[in-house]
Amino acid sequence: MTCIRSEIIGHGHYLPAKTLTNDDMAKMVETSDEWITERTGIKSRHVAAEGEYTSDLAFHAAEMAMKNAGISAEDLDLIIIGTITPDNTFPSVAAKLAARLGVRHGTPALDISAACSGFVYSLTIADNMIRLGQIKTALVIGAETLSRVTDWTDRNTCVLFGDGAGAVVIQAKEGKGDSSDTGVLSTKLFADGTQYENLMATGGVSTTQTAGYVFMNGKEVFKSAIGCLTQAAEVVAEQAGIRVSDIDWLLPHQANIRIIEGVGKKLELPEEKVIVTIDHQANTSAASIPLALSECLESGRIRKGDLVILNSMGAGFTWGGALVRI
Ligand code: ACO
Repeated sequence: MTCIRSEIIGHGHYLPAKTLTNDDMAKMVETSDEWITERTGIKSRHVAAEGEYTSDLAFHAAEMAMKNAGISAEDLDLIIIGTITPDNTFPSVAAKLAARLGVRHGTPALDISAACSGFVYSLTIADNMIRLGQIKTALVIGAETLSRVTDWTDRNTCVLFGDGAGAVVIQAKEGKGDSSDTGVLSTKLFADGTQYENLMATGGVSTTQTAGYVFMNGKEVFKSAIGCLTQAAEVVAEQAGIRVSDIDWLLPHQANIRIIEGVGKKLELPEEKVIVTIDHQANTSAASIPLALSECLESGRIRKGDLVILNSMGAGFTWGGALVRI
């Protein structure tokens, strides 16, 4: 039986030029390179320049992805961006980006607010629209300027986050309908709103009329993260009829090295199969998976035919996964 698959035909990423090392952080709050490295795996993070917005980061990642895919803005049928740090409260970053890229008049553009799961949520929505035959080609992005909602005096959170963007172009291709196909093979999304207050911004349009700052109950997030990320990986593998041990790569949301290692262990995957980029990217929320994916595709670490699980977990709580053959 044939079926429509969403194949990744292009990738792109962008990191702002400015970096802050752990030693730089130690000059701002009472912390140390040793503490941050041991507890989080982070060595440095990128921070957007003054006047550089989420839409700018998304634009650079999008340009690279479209060039890599060999398509022009005319070819796009959808722009979807996972972000919790939009340029303006409304309209969407995607709408602003659509105009800047010069897409066809009327092409749908939207942002998805699912925090660190924003890219997996966006990919899932775009994949479903492609499989339904509503669209052929989509630009799927994760882009964040978390530095703008970081309280730089709070050592509990400020050492964790960074800015960046990653993008993929996905396009409808005919597949056989089994796990030997290339493209997105299965997806699954979850949420649990009872955990709303464990990871949140302290402000918002309807409450304080300010964006607020990141607040995190680190221990509660840690407790749930390993289970959620493991569940997402197991479910997408099971749906596609494969064993987790058969994948080439696990590409988890880059939240924290101890969470990433914990998930790898629970899934009984060897360390070499678990992708870690948090050392130089920090936690870039919705951008972390497409950023890491694009870097790995660019360097040739992940290759055509490889089977990859992308899994994420973040505020909401939201979590989810996608199984993709490159
Ligand atoms: N430098 C030095 N000391 C610090 C720092 C810091 N940057 N931050 C906190 N501490 C102190 C605390 O104040 C505390 O001191 P106290 O005992 O005197 O009160 C001490 O270190 C230990 O704090 P804990 O909270 O027990 O530290 P823990 O080992 O749990 O590590 C961390 C904190 C890294 C946040 C951990 O809870 C964690 O990994 N949580 C998961 C959350 C996460 O990774 N979130 C990422 C965003 S969410 C997501 O993407 C899914």
